[in-house]
Amino acid sequence: MNTPPDQYGVVGHPVAHSFSPFIHGMFARQTNQHLVYRLYDVPPAQFRSHVLEFFARGGRGLNVTVPHKLAAAELANELTPRAERAGAVNTLALHGENQILGDNTDGAGLVQDLVVNLSVAVAKRRVLIIGAGGATRGVLAPLLMLGPAELVIANRTLERARELAQDFVDLGTLLCCDFNQLPEGAFDLVINATSASLSGEVPAVSAAVIGAGTVCYDMAYGKEDTAFVRWARENGCSSALQGWGMLVEQAAESFELWRGVRPETAPVLTALKRQSQIL
Ligand code: ATR
Repeated sequence: MNTPPDQYGVVGHPVAHSFSPFIHGMFARQTNQHLVYRLYDVPPAQFRSHVLEFFARGGRGLNVTVPHKLAAAELANELTPRAERAGAVNTLALHGENQILGDNTDGAGLVQDLVVNLSVAVAKRRVLIIGAGGATRGVLAPLLMLGPAELVIANRTLERARELAQDFVDLGTLLCCDFNQLPEGAFDLVINATSASLSGEVPAVSAAVIGAGTVCYDMAYGKEDTAFVRWARENGCSSALQGWGMLVEQAAESFELWRGVRPETAPVLTALKRQSQIL
């Protein structure tokens, strides 16, 4: 008798346009894993009960996206050290008989894309990260571990940048400011971790942060160039990138946690970029 496939999925609200089923479907075919991966559009009020029921019915793992990443950290019975540090969870996995483990693969995904796929140097470089929300929280520790010369968090609301800097100060030197107090000079790497791209906006940061060799990276992605990528190019950046690679790499980290095999990301990234032109 054929065994039913293991159940996985992504929970978000909204989630209809998620590329995760496409990505995990390709990973599963590539590694011969017998699984299904579904979309679950669940509003915040039902998040907890939905997730508990999913696992109670034999579900094996979930990705968690906006707006549930903090709620997922609260729900998990146990957190990996990197999820604990981030205070946010993007991956839930069945652990033992009935325990739910929470992990955060966003930071590892970003670093893998920057350092391995794109060969962007972070060590001893000046790095600016714009935004002080959950997305920044998820990636600060792995970025600091790469040993930048300077890591500046700039946020529209200074207080949130301050809080974040305090939470991570034990891992390295972190400066924080609002958009009017940015340190002078161009940065080697500027990362947009705000949610501004989702509404087609660009954070009001001076273009002086961009110099001849600056790499600009938007954690957001879209069929067209994001507003941040357009802004970077218009201001002389010759290397302005969207977060497609981070999306695929964080998914690969989740897949490995669930299945114990590391899928190849390059063919999936190529197919995803092609597919996103069609969708
Ligand atoms: P996420 O989990 O995606 O990080 P969040 O926690 O709501 O979401 O944080 C959103 C981040 O994007 C914040 O840093 C927010 O700035 P504020 O803290 O000042 O609200 C930032 N952001 C959103 N829209 C923005 C815009 N139009 N310009 C600048 N920053 C913006």
